[in-house]
Amino acid sequence: MKKILSLFFLMAIVLPGWSQKVKWLDEMNLKLMSCGWSTPQVNKSVGGNPLKVNGATFNRGVGTHAVSTFLINLNKQATTFNTQVGVDDEATNNASIEFIVMADQKVLWRSGVMKKGEDPKTCQIPLNGKQKLGLVVLSGESNDNDHADWLNAKIVYSGATPIAIGNVISEKPYILTPASSPAPRINGAKVFGAHPGNPFLFKVPVTGVRPMTINASGLPDGLSIDSKTGIITGTTPAKGEYRIKITAQNKVGKATRTLKIVSGDLLALTPPLGWNSWNCWGLSVNQDRVKASADAMIQKGLIEHGWTYINIDDGWEAPSRTADSILLPNGKFPDMKALTTYIHSQGLKMGIYSSPGTRTCGGFLASYQNEVQDAKTWAELGIDYIKYDWCSYGWIAPNPNLEELQKPYIVMRKALDQCNRDIIFSLCQYGMGNVWEWGAKIGGNTWRTTGDIGDSWDSMSGIGFSQTQDPKCTGPGHWNDPDMLVVGKVGWGPSLHNTHLTPSEQYTHISMWSLLASPLLIGCDMSQLDAFTLNLLSNDEVLAINQDPLGVKASRVKKADGVEIWMRPLDDHSYAVGVFYNGKGSGDPTALFNWSNSKSTKTVKVSLSDLKLKGKYQVRDLWRQKDTGITNQSKTVEIPYHGVAFLKFTPVK
Ligand code: GLA
Repeated sequence: MKKILSLFFLMAIVLPGWSQKVKWLDEMNLKLMSCGWSTPQVNKSVGGNPLKVNGATFNRGVGTHAVSTFLINLNKQATTFNTQVGVDDEATNNASIEFIVMADQKVLWRSGVMKKGEDPKTCQIPLNGKQKLGLVVLSGESNDNDHADWLNAKIVYSGATPIAIGNVISEKPYILTPASSPAPRINGAKVFGAHPGNPFLFKVPVTGVRPMTINASGLPDGLSIDSKTGIITGTTPAKGEYRIKITAQNKVGKATRTLKIVSGDLLALTPPLGWNSWNCWGLSVNQDRVKASADAMIQKGLIEHGWTYINIDDGWEAPSRTADSILLPNGKFPDMKALTTYIHSQGLKMGIYSSPGTRTCGGFLASYQNEVQDAKTWAELGIDYIKYDWCSYGWIAPNPNLEELQKPYIVMRKALDQCNRDIIFSLCQYGMGNVWEWGAKIGGNTWRTTGDIGDSWDSMSGIGFSQTQDPKCTGPGHWNDPDMLVVGKVGWGPSLHNTHLTPSEQYTHISMWSLLASPLLIGCDMSQLDAFTLNLLSNDEVLAINQDPLGVKASRVKKADGVEIWMRPLDDHSYAVGVFYNGKGSGDPTALFNWSNSKSTKTVKVSLSDLKLKGKYQVRDLWRQKDTGITNQSKTVEIPYHGVAFLKFTPVK
């Protein structure tokens, strides 16, 4: 026996290749690979086609989409990692990607930025003695359509098999938002814009036990309130500002607040709050699923925190237009009118989706050359929000200049202006041509600033912390949209999973989007809301930052030692401040991995000079809804890894 063992040992030393085995990337657990859009595919591109780079087809490999990360435990048993990499031919021409291979917190190889039409690059990296291998795909020049292929990717090893370990930090959900008081509290927007003469709908959101009476004094002629529900309806009065005193009373107490109704040219005086079907159901959206989320918004009380819009994304459209060019819903929406009527009866609002090309991103019929008809159809249906994508307009304008980028949105704007209905116009062209610099001018209420979000830290934090646009580009009526929320059960298709964001990362997500004055569109199936997610979405002090009437988006005031501080001024002369512990600064790709799964916290001293503030301030913890003391110097906070301290600094005498 001893002899056999020694022979084995000798062969392993003399003939290193003798005991070597191969683990292909496509054989590993790709559920643990993060992917910026859709899901990683075995031996196929991320779009489900054969792997093909610059005309050459490959039988083996993994198709993914930037930003993508994959962490593998090698157990010091691997000798090499071999792969070819490239942009898949199915990507559009503006795709640009960088592949990075790293091990044990060191970058070992970078492809450099690669574009569509380039030959694959080859990477052969020794891995002797390495514990963990990290594979990354980053977006190159823009983050659009980055379909990335790892081709013939394999790890050569001996001994224990390399195993995917994912890039997760284990963290138990922790609840921060205190329960709502039984006494009335009036929440939501303090200022609401509407066009004169159009149908008016605004529900005053109020938490507190029922029964409750909600009254409004000072309502202009043409508007009335249902005192049981707090829903104000009627016809928007003539141009002007109307200050309404809202009173809510139940057996425990009474609350009052002023609501300013501004009848004029602007809608969305605060960022829209609501739900959208895309991040959960993708193209498998249907009427029952939309209704279930609307019902949950009501039954779980989110409606009383100001959540309003129920937006149907792509996948509702019939396969062909009627003889008179009307685009009706497909069979998955047997009675869209009844759904809209129901939604309005609850004080909620309804949104829909289309594209300016001939097809939507999901391949459904879109609005090209039917804009006036489509806007009219939506207005008649009672639609309150239109998300207007870009997809397939690229066929009409393949290399668009600024004028061509703006054109389809100007056409739809004109069509919407012919309808006597308040419809929020949401541009979804991923930030092309710095849309934030001109989106307001061409009549957009919101505009996407980035490609699609995914439910990973890389994607969410990559988007959130890059929103450094000049705050002057946004404001009441006009908002940057860094895409929808990825909390709760998401999936972009019929099967859903819990978001891959940790609880701390989710607090970061909601805090950051509130600081940025972004639309907040919940992206999960609300009928499956768990206690943590519900609590996360029900914090009125956090939502009040998002809905602040001043409407100034936050700017980054400091970035050092893995910590970023973002800050925005508020209408009441206080400041909202987010102190985020991101780990290493962005720009260092090794920071994309949680190499040791050690979850640490960081103690950060936020000094008033960091915030360019002078004087004395009360500091309030917004998530815990607690004052934490007065200072004229600094505030020290303890922040979980990838988490946040979300603070409000209010001047005191
Ligand atoms: C694009 C958008 C998504 C979603 C899909 C629908 O990818 O960015 O938000 O609307 O289209 O196909």
